[in-house]
This record gives sequence, C-alpha cells and structure tokens, in this order.
Amino acid sequence: MPTSLPRRAGGAVTTALLAATMVTALSHTATAADGTLGSAAAAKGRYFGTAVAANHLGESAYAGTLDREFNAVTPENEMKWDATEPTRNTFTFTAADQIAGHAQSQGMKLRGHTLVWHSQLPSWVSGLGASDLRTAMNNHITQVMQHYKGKIYAWDVVNEAFQDGSSGARRSSPFQDKLGNGFIEEAFRTARTADPDAKLCYNDYNTDGVNAKSNAVYTMVKDFKSRGVPIDCVGFQSHFNNDSPVPADYQANLQRFADLGVDVQITELDIEGSGTTQADNYTNVVKACLAVTRCTGITVWGITDKYSWRAGGTPLLFDSNYNKKPAYTAVLTTLGGSSGGGTPTPGGATCTATYSKQEEWSDRFNGQVTITAGSSPISGWSTTVTVTSPQKISTTWNGTPTWDGSGNVMTMRPNGNGSLAAGTSTSFGFTVMKNGSSTAPVIGACTVS
Ligand code: XIL
Repeated sequence: MPTSLPRRAGGAVTTALLAATMVTALSHTATAADGTLGSAAAAKGRYFGTAVAANHLGESAYAGTLDREFNAVTPENEMKWDATEPTRNTFTFTAADQIAGHAQSQGMKLRGHTLVWHSQLPSWVSGLGASDLRTAMNNHITQVMQHYKGKIYAWDVVNEAFQDGSSGARRSSPFQDKLGNGFIEEAFRTARTADPDAKLCYNDYNTDGVNAKSNAVYTMVKDFKSRGVPIDCVGFQSHFNNDSPVPADYQANLQRFADLGVDVQITELDIEGSGTTQADNYTNVVKACLAVTRCTGITVWGITDKYSWRAGGTPLLFDSNYNKKPAYTAVLTTLGGSSGGGTPTPGGATCTATYSKQEEWSDRFNGQVTITAGSSPISGWSTTVTVTSPQKISTTWNGTPTWDGSGNVMTMRPNGNGSLAAGTSTSFGFTVMKNGSSTAPVIGACTVS
C-alpha cells in the first residue's frame, strides 16, 4: 500500500485511506508525498512540470518517471503551428491529444505551447500577405484554443517576439513585418475570446534577468495592463549554460513583472553542467520562484538528459538512465521535500534505495538494489523496480516481489524479517531480459514500513 500512495497533492487515494480509517497514516502520507518534485512543489502552492514528447510516452521508464515526479506538462513540439496546422485549415491534433489525455488521466496541469511564434512555422504562413496573415493567425489561435478549451491551465500565446541584445526592438518575423507591433495585442485579444478560462502568457528567453530585452517586454506588459489588453502571465524560459548563466537579479526580475499584476512562470528550465555546480544553479532558480508569491510554477524542458534538445549539455534532473542527479536532490530539497528518496515515518525513520548494474550478457543483465536504513532503525521496507517494455524481469533473489498488471513494475519487499539497524544495508537482485532494450530500470523511492 504505501508505495502506491499519491505522489501528487489531492486525489482519490487520500479519501480511500480515510475510508480505511488509517487516520494516523494520513500524516505520513503527506510527508511521503513530499518525496517527489510535484508534491513538494504542491505543498508550496506551486506546480512542477516538464516538457513531454508524445513519442516517448510508450517507454515505461519515461512515463513512470513523468507520472511519479511531475504534476504539470508542456508538449515539447506537438502544439506548435507546424504540428497543429501544417496545411491551411487542416488541423492535426493526434500527438498533442495524446499528451493532453495523459496529463488529464494523471491529474496534471497542461501548459499550451505555443500559438504565435516565428519558428516551427509552416512555410504557407510566411508566404501570406498582410490581411490573409491576420485572418490565418486569428483562425489558428481560435481553432487550437477551442480544441483544448477547458483543458489548458496557461497558453503561451506569443513566443519570442523580441530581439536579443541592446536594441529592445521586436524581432523580425512574418507577423511583425507584415502586421506591425499590434500583432501581439491582437493575438492576446483573440485568445481571450477563444478560451476565457485559460491564463494567457507572453513567453521568451534571455529575459530572465534585468536587461534591454526584458525591459522591452516589461514595457509591453505594463502597457497591456494599463490599457486592459488581456494578459495574465509572463513565462521565463530559463535555458542556462556558461554563456548564459542564471542571472544574479533573476528573483528581482521575476518580482518586478509580478508587481505589474501578472503571474510569472519558469517555463523551459534547463541548466547545462553537472554535479554540484549544476545543482547549485538549480537551487538558485527554485529559491527565486519560491521567494516570489506570484511565481506559480516551474517547468523543466524535459525529463531525462537522454532526450534533451541539448542532450550534450546534460541540462536536466534525471540522467540518461533516469537516475536522479545531484540537481534533482537540490531541487527537491529546496522545495522542502525529503531528499534521497527517503520516506519519513512518524518516528523519523528513512531508507534509501540505490541501483547498480551487475553482470550483463547479450540477452540479459542483472541489477542490484541496495536498501540502506537512515539514522534510525527500520523494521521493514519496500521499493519499486520499473523496466521498459519489451524488457521483462525473469528472476529475483533476496526479496519477495509483487507485480502490477503490466508486468513492468515490480514492488519488492523483504524475505521474512526486514529489520535493518540504523545505517546498515541489505540488497536484492533481479535479472532483466533485454528483448532488444538495455535501458536501465527505474527504482522508486524506498518506503519504510
Ligand atoms: C525546442 C524543442 O525542445 C526541440 O525539440 C525542437 O526541435 C525545437 O524547439 N524555446 C521554445 C521551445 O519556446 O519551444 C523550444 O523547444 C526551445 C526554445
């Protein structure tokens, strides 16, 4: 039971627990839930999201990590213009619907990304004359927003409309060049009519600190607010690396936008690097959001380094085998969650589960999970091992497994007496039949029982 407790705030399982009169267990439930990014953020009144690509949802480690850790989703490419209206007036929503359906079934928030952007724009749009382009833009906004009406928490209505550098000017694009400055206002007004319940955001990069570009966006938002142009939020993409580090005035910049009366969101966070340097940078970003009341959530631009759009920079929280990186622990801890996957019990006892690969053959490999008690003794433990279909676990040793319906998720408990003295360890093992895939299994948090 404890391993299947809700990892996100809210939900039906809490009710089921109450019905089972395990009232004393409720307080542990709340603590256990804070062992994931989404639930720790929820405890701070925020969401923790990730960009998702529809074509990876069939990979069980991908979907398993998504469902365990995140409570908001942004389609990485599937809602962009080239994906949703590749030909004029022919709308294709299959891939985006897959993500929307997944988010909905998991109770996750969905961010819409993005309606009007110069990039990933089909060539038929760039070829239009001004009046046709205006019609096409408003039709695109209306059709896409109406399709997702009621399902989207916030839309990036306009993306990246300003130039980099010191000019503070608008970026050249078919929209800017043919419709002029007014296209942004027009897009927001059309969006409000199409789905009045979605929050409407302006989203950009290199606007994370106070600089000429963010000043220009600030001036626009201030103008919109003063004239009643509908805008609810500003997204800060926050793609960082050595050339574009987390700015020292990041929090101050978020705050000055929030003070205009809009929500602020960190929308595409990734930070190239590794180890403690990367972890410290992530910590600073999370701290800044927590310090700004109207910073309503953080979205990282992908789950695993394996599929990052800048995979070479290993910018995400899970490595390419879905192991938690130091940056993950830093984010979780900064959000106030429990670190190391430990699940505190009333007595404060914790345990951790760590994975290592053992022997490997062409058709199979052995995995070992080491369970270590924290600073208090424990009398039992459990953890999950999730393999990626078509892999199958064929054998296990030194533990008692149970399986979910798919056969991909194994919950392992001790054989007999599961007591461990403080700081001591035990291990269990298993053989994974590869069936063509060498992907490492995903190990869930260790739960004390
Ligand atoms: C990126 C995706 O991650 C890539 O898969 C795609 O090839 C290009 O676009 N700013 C944005 C995002 O607003 O939509 C971009 O996403 C990254 C930069």
